[in-house]
Amino acid sequence: MPEVNKASMQTDTKVHHPHALTPLIDPVISAFINKFPDTLTALVEQHGSPLNVVWPHAFELNTQALLAVLKQHSVAHAIFYGAKANKSQCLLSAAATSAIGVDVSSLYELQAALRAGTPAAKICATGPAKTAAFHQALISAGALICVDSLEEFDHLKELLEAQPLPIKARVLLRYRAKSCAKSRFGMDAQDLLDSLQRLATDTASLVFEGFHFHLGGYGFESRVQAFREVSGFVEAAREMGLNPQMIDIGGGLPIRYVDPQDYTRFLQNDNIPSHYYHQKVPADYYPYGGDLTAAQWLTLFLEAEHSAGLSIAGYLNQQNITLALEPGRSLVDQAAISIFRITRTKKLADSKTVIFVEGSSFSACETWFASEYLVDPILISTEQQTSTPCQAYIAGHSCLDDDVITYRLINFACEPRRGDLLIYINTAGYQMDLLENEFHRHPLPRRLMATCCTEGKYAFTPDY
Ligand SMILES: Cc1ncc(COP(=O)(O)O)c(C=O)c1O
Repeated sequence: MPEVNKASMQTDTKVHHPHALTPLIDPVISAFINKFPDTLTALVEQHGSPLNVVWPHAFELNTQALLAVLKQHSVAHAIFYGAKANKSQCLLSAAATSAIGVDVSSLYELQAALRAGTPAAKICATGPAKTAAFHQALISAGALICVDSLEEFDHLKELLEAQPLPIKARVLLRYRAKSCAKSRFGMDAQDLLDSLQRLATDTASLVFEGFHFHLGGYGFESRVQAFREVSGFVEAAREMGLNPQMIDIGGGLPIRYVDPQDYTRFLQNDNIPSHYYHQKVPADYYPYGGDLTAAQWLTLFLEAEHSAGLSIAGYLNQQNITLALEPGRSLVDQAAISIFRITRTKKLADSKTVIFVEGSSFSACETWFASEYLVDPILISTEQQTSTPCQAYIAGHSCLDDDVITYRLINFACEPRRGDLLIYINTAGYQMDLLENEFHRHPLPRRLMATCCTEGKYAFTPDY
């Protein structure tokens, strides 16, 4: 039975919103936090800290926003949700409900996507080192396989030849764009042409469907350039008698965690060593307050010039090519919050405070990448507060010196206390569970799916 929140019977619980890097919050989640902070406290009491609460409605809204842009430009399209962004099963179910596909990078992601109800024909497998078992499962299911290299091509061929009955594998070829010539992913022009030639002579076991690339970074411009490069191979493939039908541009669509003006102000004025407990400003960050939403990014991509007088959307339509995308982070935008209960606060030198939370930075992982999550947490205080302001950084409960959730000194208008909660907003994209583990034998954090039933009513069920 799902747990349903009770009507608010607020005691002294208070919700303190930060003022510097204020998180942007989905309205449903915001209403829940502001109206029912006691429910959050009760959920953490029952399920432990940290607790990840996953909101599939946000996934569905994000999908609809991208689909609207694709439809507006009348391009044939396929969206494969990059399942690597989050381990939640209910987000895979949201992908199935939204009738989009899934990009899987392991046998286990494949099995989870099938379990969620995604038809195998809508599953696309990426990654540079697929195992025989993974390849076999993809072949048997009839999923699309992005071939990363000539070596992987050979491996797939060997497996196909060893099948007891003739069976075909559907493939895309992964292109290595000129902008990332040294990357270990994908094939350069020569290897791509070799693959095309092999495909042209082996139509018995391989069905060639098109090309794929995925680039690092978040600019649409680099994707436009790679798309132009790859479209040259569409011509080459056709001349060899092949029928490319899809160009898959991977993921990397950006999301916004904080208001762009707050973000710029922070970078210009506050991103200085003295605002970090360890006095070090990280070398780089995700663009937390970027200029573009994912939908705007996609619009700019489709409207960018492919060749003289022809936009990318125009090219896709003229050439009858389906545009595929593999958004991970941008589909899970706002789809989870992570709640940490405070174990203790401790005074340190220079009147700074450290807040220890029940949980570790493995469940909020930016500092492990020598970066920081530039979004301030919301404080839920459970006792009557005297409003003494304090500056604190936040550490995990392990004995590792590097187990720090944020080195950034956060200004709290009133001092957090033991038992209070810190809520990190928008943690679904690689943040909450990428590195989670059972260090010190702490159990893995629980994940709950939140559903909004009727106005003001929310139900919480285990999400596995
Ligand atoms: C091949 C591929 N596709 C899609 C993605 C998802 O990228 P993002 O979450 O930035 O959209 C990744 C991320 O690493 C990837 O490697």
